[in-house]
Amino acid sequence: MPGPGQVLIQVAAAGLNNADLLQGRGLYPPPPGASPILGMEVSGTIAELGAGVSGWNKGEEVCALLPGGGYSEYALTDSGSLLPVPGSVNLIEAAGLPEAAFTAWTNIMDTGRLAPGETLLIHGGTSGIGSLAIQIFAARGHTIFTTAGSDEKCQAARGFGAARAINYRKEDFVEVIKAETKGKGMDVILDMVGGDYIQRNIAAAAPWGRIVNIAYQNGFKTEVDFAAVLTRRLTLAATTLRGRTPEQKRAIRDALLGEVWPLVGTRIKPVIARTFPLAEAQEAHQFMAKTGHIGKILLQMA
Ligand SMILES: NC(=O)c1ccc[n+]([C@@H]2O[C@H](COP(=O)([O-])OP(=O)(O)OC[C@H]3O[C@@H](n4cnc5c(N)ncnc54)[C@H](OP(=O)(O)O)[C@@H]3O)[C@@H](O)[C@H]2O)c1
Repeated sequence: MPGPGQVLIQVAAAGLNNADLLQGRGLYPPPPGASPILGMEVSGTIAELGAGVSGWNKGEEVCALLPGGGYSEYALTDSGSLLPVPGSVNLIEAAGLPEAAFTAWTNIMDTGRLAPGETLLIHGGTSGIGSLAIQIFAARGHTIFTTAGSDEKCQAARGFGAARAINYRKEDFVEVIKAETKGKGMDVILDMVGGDYIQRNIAAAAPWGRIVNIAYQNGFKTEVDFAAVLTRRLTLAATTLRGRTPEQKRAIRDALLGEVWPLVGTRIKPVIARTFPLAEAQEAHQFMAKTGHIGKILLQMA
């Protein structure tokens, strides 16, 4: 049963995240108090409301961020982590929205402080997060450059709204950005690669630029020359979402409701690479680990 401020969701589908793969291998324990079952985002219908929850109804179609427990028929979350599923969005596909939307918004807007008219570089443009982030910030009028590992992925990223998609296996993103911004660089950079990208992001950033890491897939350790950070007044930052308090997540949810959700279903759509039945969760994890996908991978409950 849901506790005060919580809701119980009858799960239709769960979105896959890299954290699930790590948790499944014993490398990423869930935060204290969270379900030990995998799964950090779901879509479904509200089955029960806890005490003090208002503005939501039993039977309503929702998608939600969870501290854990999404690979399940029923899941609990705080009501501040809920978002409605617009009528034009398929309930299963809505499971691909919460983690990408919360992560993109808080890192690019709260930490990256992207201002109107500023430019944005999103690495991993066809990742679950990248595919939604490009749509959100292109719809808000920003010029977006992105990187991806194949021509097919670059074509998809342009379809999401990127002005320039750089195949990093063929082109150097620093050189492309310098050439195409007349030497200025990008105002905000969202990075999930790390490693040697840390120095290269510094080279690709505009004066007063903000570089925000959400992962370090190429490594946490590298040698960095900080001279350009100083002379060009850059900010380097990194954040995680999962361990934030319910109140912190509610603030991000409220911003998404006001700024992004009016466009979900029209300008902004979930990008789904593949949906597996829950019984094939292992295969779904293997599919994600191969990194050939474009968009989100889902597990359908029934
Ligand atoms: N900090 C947070 O709060 C937070 C929240 C959610 C997710 N994350 C992290 O963010 C990352 C993206 O999540 P996701 O769900 O969108 O994952 P995803 O769909 O699996 O995407 C991962 C992407 O990383 C790219 N990539 C992998 N290795 C790369 C490399 N060496 N160089 C360049 N690109 C590389 C891949 O693109 P190519 O095939 O084009 O290389 C792929 O599109 C994950 O590492 C995840 O753990 C962090």
